Amino acid sequence: MENFTLYNPTKLFFGKDVAEKLGKTVRPLGKKALFIYGEGSIKKTGIYDQVTRQLNSAGIDFVEYPGIRPNPIIEDVDAAAELGRKENIDFIIAVGGGSVIDSAKFISIAIPYGGPVWDLVTDKVKPTRNIPIVAVLTLAATGTEMNRFAVVQNNITREKLGYGNPLLYPRYSFLDPQYTITVPKNYTAYGIADLIAHCFEAFFGKGKASLSDRFVYAIIKEAMEYGPALLNDLRDLELRSGIMYVATNALNNLTLYGRVSGDWGAHSIGHVLSVLYNVPHGASLSIVYPAWLKLQRNRIPERIAELGQNLFNVTRVDETIAETEAFFTVIGCPSRLSDIGISPNQKQTIFRTMVDNEVNGNNHKLSHDDYRELIDLFM
Ligand code: NZQ
Ligand code: ZN
Repeated sequence: MENFTLYNPTKLFFGKDVAEKLGKTVRPLGKKALFIYGEGSIKKTGIYDQVTRQLNSAGIDFVEYPGIRPNPIIEDVDAAAELGRKENIDFIIAVGGGSVIDSAKFISIAIPYGGPVWDLVTDKVKPTRNIPIVAVLTLAATGTEMNRFAVVQNNITREKLGYGNPLLYPRYSFLDPQYTITVPKNYTAYGIADLIAHCFEAFFGKGKASLSDRFVYAIIKEAMEYGPALLNDLRDLELRSGIMYVATNALNNLTLYGRVSGDWGAHSIGHVLSVLYNVPHGASLSIVYPAWLKLQRNRIPERIAELGQNLFNVTRVDETIAETEAFFTVIGCPSRLSDIGISPNQKQTIFRTMVDNEVNGNNHKLSHDDYRELIDLFM
């Protein structure tokens, strides 16, 4: 086991009606907020009204930046940061899924920096300060509500980059599973695929940490138990609660303590598919992960079999991979690019973008020949 520091400053409120505490909780953060959200789901679901009521009752003035897209883009982050700077806001309130909360994280360091967010994402500039973030999560998937990571897309350079910094932890996160009841079937499934992929990234990362491995098994087993049941009854609050809590724990560091790092190779390939074809993040992973496991089957057979034994009670590598792929199919996620209408004539474009993005894992390095094999496997 490696040395580690256990640090997570996010205060997370979980359960039915927790947002009723929002106004009182955020009042000490200041008088003016930047309120950011996505393309309209929070207005249809009534969450917008609940949040604004809380802000009004606490006497907080706010300016809005709506329209954050799935797979968020730097143009929105820069424009929202500009608005926040101009309005001299004290904190950011982000209401939505990972795309909205990740955007808030970048805005929070971009406002004090004063320049383009891409300078920060590409490490040209180190952030030194942040604006506090309050997250209200409406979709269970990414774990962003309790971690220090964020991901943003640059459509000009065709890069989607992840970024990590302790300044990005939300100050407060509100997780009411009732808010996720309206998430459609496809995004509910993508969220489950994403959280499982986060556990895989930890499990195939660098360094040995047996308790962290056991957290991985427990989280995936919960997801595999609740996931299919939830997809049969999207309005079941108990199942929504279960999935929401496992998704948070799949990427709040619990599965990483004691390791050198996670792998993240499959995620970096998934990001290429999102930047090229706007594939939803979880769907990119249900396509990439089985292929990645097949690529690794003769390189790390024991590690894959260990996973199979603990998750599916199977001992053979091929069975483990087949069970994983079958699970993604059962919950309705795509397992090939052709399932989402992307044709084999895109192979060279995907390869070139993987090269340009220097796609790789921290633990399991990928060569250009591996890229070609992976593309053939997931095409
Ligand atoms: O935009 P609106 O109208 O809100 O609709 C969204 C969006 O269309 C909709 N939605 C969200 N909550 C809803 C809802 N629809 C109905 N009812 C609700 N309650 O769902 C769609 C997808 O939202 P999005 O935020 O894009 O999904 P997700 O939470 O999966 O976030 C994906 C983003 O997070 C990044 C991904 O790369 C991607 O950009 N990730 C962030 C990570 C992190 N910060 O730690 C780790 C992950 O690996 C991931 O890379
Ligand atoms: Zn992910």
